[in-house]
Amino acid sequence: MKSTLRLSRENVVAPVDKRVFGSFIEHLGRAVYGGIYEPSHPSADEEGFRKDVLDLVRELDVPIVRYPGGNFVSGYNWEDGTGPKDQRPRRLELAWKTIETNEVGIDDFQSWAKKAGSEVLMAVNLGTRGPDEARHLVEYCNFPGGTYYSDLRRKNGFEEPFGIKTWCLGNEMDGPWQICAKTADEYGRIACETAKLMKTVDPSIELVACGSSGLMMPTFGEWEKKVLDHCYDYVDYISLHTYYDNYADDIGEFLAKSLDFDTFITSVAAICDSVKAKKHSKKTINLSFDEWNVWYHSNSADAAIKPWQIAPPQLEDVYNFEDALLVGCMLMTLLRHADRVKIACLAQLVNVIAPIMTENGGKAWAQTIFYPFMHASHYGRGLSLVTKVDSPIYTTTSGREIPCLETAAVWNEEAGELTIFAVNKSPETMDLETKLSDFGALLPHQHITMDGYGLKDTNTASDPDHVVPKENGETKVSGNTAVSTLKPYSWNVIRLKK
Ligand code: AHR
Repeated sequence: MKSTLRLSRENVVAPVDKRVFGSFIEHLGRAVYGGIYEPSHPSADEEGFRKDVLDLVRELDVPIVRYPGGNFVSGYNWEDGTGPKDQRPRRLELAWKTIETNEVGIDDFQSWAKKAGSEVLMAVNLGTRGPDEARHLVEYCNFPGGTYYSDLRRKNGFEEPFGIKTWCLGNEMDGPWQICAKTADEYGRIACETAKLMKTVDPSIELVACGSSGLMMPTFGEWEKKVLDHCYDYVDYISLHTYYDNYADDIGEFLAKSLDFDTFITSVAAICDSVKAKKHSKKTINLSFDEWNVWYHSNSADAAIKPWQIAPPQLEDVYNFEDALLVGCMLMTLLRHADRVKIACLAQLVNVIAPIMTENGGKAWAQTIFYPFMHASHYGRGLSLVTKVDSPIYTTTSGREIPCLETAAVWNEEAGELTIFAVNKSPETMDLETKLSDFGALLPHQHITMDGYGLKDTNTASDPDHVVPKENGETKVSGNTAVSTLKPYSWNVIRLKK
């Protein structure tokens, strides 16, 4: 089987915004307690953060982390998580039916994010709360001092403002499951008025309005249009969320889902542009894909979890090799849409549908999906190139025709390095011929692969390195052509250097 890819350094989609390698920590399950924070853990630092987890997060190089939710934020009082820890209230947390101890809050998370080398993408509560608490939170986080909330931050030990640049105006407000869900008109109005106040406190911030919770929502499209009609001038991004499953246990259909992911992006961009045209606006609304992943493995276990526990093991999906292939395809889709997708958050980061898993008091390890994310984050920064692909097609059970090759390419001018990411979605070996028109002489530097694993193979605490990348890929360059062997069902990172 043979496929062809044509690349030119003149044919650029856009520079990749590093924030597309973002992730997400919600007060949910063991993401915070037992995940990033566990003061009794042997690796805990002076603030109670697990250093073994921090090391893995740093390995991923995550430039931005969304916090504190998710569904959680729609019932959250941010003040509960500030000040002396022994005086913070324990609350019933209604989104996930747990008890929230508030041992970690925005101040602590800010410290953690600094240690992780990440900035915070902060969400405000537009469920049970509204514009007033949101403006106070911006004042607390970003105002230098001399006012009630900025001085409260200083009193709590944070002299310097946090300088949080990007904020989410609530979470999934269209979802009936959301605390105080809203209609598009209700949300559009509140988002607009909240945005005005937040930007008055700090005009340098950027805001993300809630788009639909997924392409499957009955109000999809109409929601985006109405919301943007209300708040177009005051926001900068609209959010997209999606999670995929393989309940059907059908690898062809499963790996085809990145095409749905692609359609979701192009559809939302088109809706934003239709509102732009209607409003005669010069401003473009970009996309924040601030929740995306595979999520289904843990659903039945979650149904059995008793309510009102502290940090129960919720949403602990154990990812397998086929999940890593789809996550790789979704990452490549984000790269190919670098012109519109400026922020994206793999949901989530630790324990909760996450690339990093921990045992309470024990090990931390990388799941299968950790690796494609790490590769994209390390080698996917630069100029995303237009990919002209000629690939064999496979037909899915439902009759969809899907290219066997999914690819993205990033040119890093400074490093003189071209990285081609590729997934072979077929059970046969594929020869990939890449025509390199104008890069000068490039040599094979590294061809990383993940292949040869069973589609259901996983990493676990007892076998944490079962599914790992190898450097055994075959790529040869002759003249302006690179020829790579893509093994059946494989993830490939082909690095060519000057
Ligand atoms: O990421 C898990 C949950 O999925 C989030 O809390 C919510 O926003 C989405 O439905």
